Amino acid sequence: MDRGTTSRQLTVARTRRSSPRSRSCYGRLRRVEATQLSGDVTEILVTKEQLANRITELAAEVDRDYEGKELLLVGVLNGAVMVMADLSRALNMHCRMDWMAVSSYGSGSKSSGVVRILKDLSTDVTGMHVLLVEDIIDTGLTLSYLVSNLRSRRPASLRVLTVFRKPEAARNPVEISYVGFDIPNEFVVGYGLDYDGLYRNLTSVGALSPSVYT
Ligand code: IMP
Repeated sequence: MDRGTTSRQLTVARTRRSSPRSRSCYGRLRRVEATQLSGDVTEILVTKEQLANRITELAAEVDRDYEGKELLLVGVLNGAVMVMADLSRALNMHCRMDWMAVSSYGSGSKSSGVVRILKDLSTDVTGMHVLLVEDIIDTGLTLSYLVSNLRSRRPASLRVLTVFRKPEAARNPVEISYVGFDIPNEFVVGYGLDYDGLYRNLTSVGALSPSVYT
């Protein structure tokens, strides 16, 4: 299948922290922001402002593409919580929202494509216009499973939106209609993305320091 996209894709520019913050500055920061600056995150890849701007752009594309249609956003828990909240509120159209939770078996941090549904949809999506909302696509194996699973339920249409896409995803044949940012092949956290359940509430997205997991 052609994996051309309808959305302008952005390749992120890296924002390096220029100089260490003084101790007194830490005291005035909220705790998650202090974490961002204190070494767990080595490099900010996408700032909170870039995220907000890009989600607004994607919402405008979705508004245009789904005009006159009833839209169901399906968020993949837990990572898509932030984008679902921001995207849905940036839309000018009505939408319904539902959620799936999956766990992907794999070795280390890589998924194998063998996926188990932990929480299924509450909605019968037959005949509905479904937009699957993901936080990040790495190998694309989880996405392949989700797309074929949802297709089997016979929605009127099925498209995919992801905030982040890593290079390996380009080898996966599943079409992704809306991509927020193409990012390098690094383990990133923030804006819903976690390591060991932590860092989801970071407002920007950055590369996790290997010192955290080694
Ligand atoms: P895939 O099946 O290889 O595309 O894996 C996608 C899933 O792996 C995402 O939904 C995330 O849960 C997780 N994942 C992949 N890369 C990262 C990352 O850099 N940070 C956090 N989670 C990630």
